[in-house]
Amino acid sequence: MKTLLRVLAGEAVWPPPIWLMRQAGRYLPEYCALRAEAGDFIALCTNPALAAEVTLQPVRRFGMDAAILFSDILMLPWALGYGLRFAAGEGPVLPQLQTADIARLDRHRLPDAIAPILETVRRVRNGLDPSAALIGFAGGPFTVACYMVEGGGSKDFARTRLMAYQAPEDFARLIEVLTEASIVYLAAQIEAGAEVVMLFDSWAGVLSPALFAAYVTAPAQHIVAALAARFPTVPVIGFPRLGGTLLGSYAAATGVAAVGLDTSVSPQVARALVPARVALQGNLDPMALLAGGEAMQREVASLLAAVRGGPHVFNLGHGIVPQTPPEHVAALVRLLRAA
Ligand code: CP3
Repeated sequence: MKTLLRVLAGEAVWPPPIWLMRQAGRYLPEYCALRAEAGDFIALCTNPALAAEVTLQPVRRFGMDAAILFSDILMLPWALGYGLRFAAGEGPVLPQLQTADIARLDRHRLPDAIAPILETVRRVRNGLDPSAALIGFAGGPFTVACYMVEGGGSKDFARTRLMAYQAPEDFARLIEVLTEASIVYLAAQIEAGAEVVMLFDSWAGVLSPALFAAYVTAPAQHIVAALAARFPTVPVIGFPRLGGTLLGSYAAATGVAAVGLDTSVSPQVARALVPARVALQGNLDPMALLAGGEAMQREVASLLAAVRGGPHVFNLGHGIVPQTPPEHVAALVRLLRAA
């Protein structure tokens, strides 16, 4: 069995399998070349030939144990008819959500809109080394809602958090629509060939414990249960970033096969919080990878010592930054293989 799937089934494989969040992206010259060819980012995500090639680039170059579909969490609201563009140098730009927009999210558009993304999944699965697993993904409904409510990124997502208190019925409805659409989207990715799916809830940690339970844990639990009913052997990785002490209840309640740890989490503390059957994934600091050399070696050694003996998937605590030299990634993979 592929090493990633063994770990997600609860086995303590050593050395652990490795893949990296944002392993396809601007730090790779071969990515930049195809990105320039595609024009804009959405055109790249909806071009199956180019998106499949970009997905495979890091697996080929570094021998990663998994490929992650090249797309974006914001392609889901886009597929529901919500405006999205990626402005050069300023990240995603969306309309700032108004209450009436929620009822306009159109699940009937979804099948046609995601068709090219599913075609990318099929192509990647066909072109992938048989030892590597293919990971599909969606954003956590809360994080997707964050970008819709703010109209883009934010330092504190204050407008979103305020909406959750001031317009709780609208907010709950928004989360519900995104949750149902995520189930359809992830099921379609699995049918097209994804062997694992991951929920990226990058801003989960801005919520209070009560709102985290309602808008992060409960939707993830619903998504995991709906997928398990149809695809009982397909594992889900949950990444409630900056969830801190709430990781334990998240892991226990949702039924995820693994939880992603952000850079701030002690793997020992996470191990104590999270049920033993649940694997951990993470959590090298992307800045340690950018630094490389001895600083990186020290961080990797202490991370590996902390996770040895339990089911672990080696990864970063957040995505690779564009300034990262590709040679540092190659060195990281060599370090891990020699562990
Ligand atoms: O290699 C992979 O990890 C797979 C592809 C992937 C992308 N985004 C490609 C991408 C995945 C899984 C994501 C997830 C994603 N997208 C998240 C969750 C993870 C996280 O990083 O917290 C979030 C919050 C987004 C939203 C998003 N997309 C932002 C805020 C930005 C702009 C910031 C940036 O890095 O430019 C994007 C754009 C984006 N998504 C790029 C890539 C490679 C850069 C676009 C470019 O080429 O110009």
